[in-house]
Amino acid sequence: MRNRVNSFDQSIYVTGFMASGKSTLAKALAAELQMKYKDLDEEIEKREGKSIQAIFDEMGEPYFREKEREYLIDLTYNFKGVVSLGGGALQDQMIVDHLKINGLLLCVKTPFAEIMERVKSSSERPILYDEEGKIKSDATLKTELKTLYYKRLNFYEQAQIKVDSSKYGSKNEMVKAATDKIKRHV
Ligand code: S3P
Repeated sequence: MRNRVNSFDQSIYVTGFMASGKSTLAKALAAELQMKYKDLDEEIEKREGKSIQAIFDEMGEPYFREKEREYLIDLTYNFKGVVSLGGGALQDQMIVDHLKINGLLLCVKTPFAEIMERVKSSSERPILYDEEGKIKSDATLKTELKTLYYKRLNFYEQAQIKVDSSKYGSKNEMVKAATDKIKRHV
């Protein structure tokens, strides 16, 4: 069987719930494995000429999801490297299967309490605001985040590689563990 990643001929798609630390790990992995790096959200912002928040506000979430899917599929054909996905990019089984056929899907897992704290202090995430643009209460945010998390869990769980960020004392340790797992994966 062909060794998919030791020869670095496959892309690595880094998934996980929002604020789980995907881009931090993905960037470090790209440097470690000497691969190129792309962030799907940044790619969407570049191609649409707008911030993610502005796309949600002006075009609505369904439009964002359509573009997220389109640009991700495009990257699977036209970009080789480490790609950090948005937390909702695994929209359905077809995308999960497509990413696993075309590369390696790696999921970063981070405890929910940590996610909640990071999301609350970010100010940039569309989920923080209600339809009138007002900031949601902690209780509402928590319920919505939990609902989303459990809705997506089945997709995250299908990743070929999982990295539990709470197990490591430092970013370097986590990157080393992730690299080892990638190299062991055949
Ligand atoms: C989203 C996560 C965000 C971004 C958008 C929607 C989500 O990316 O794609 O705000 O639905 O989980 P991060 O996971 O990098 O925050």
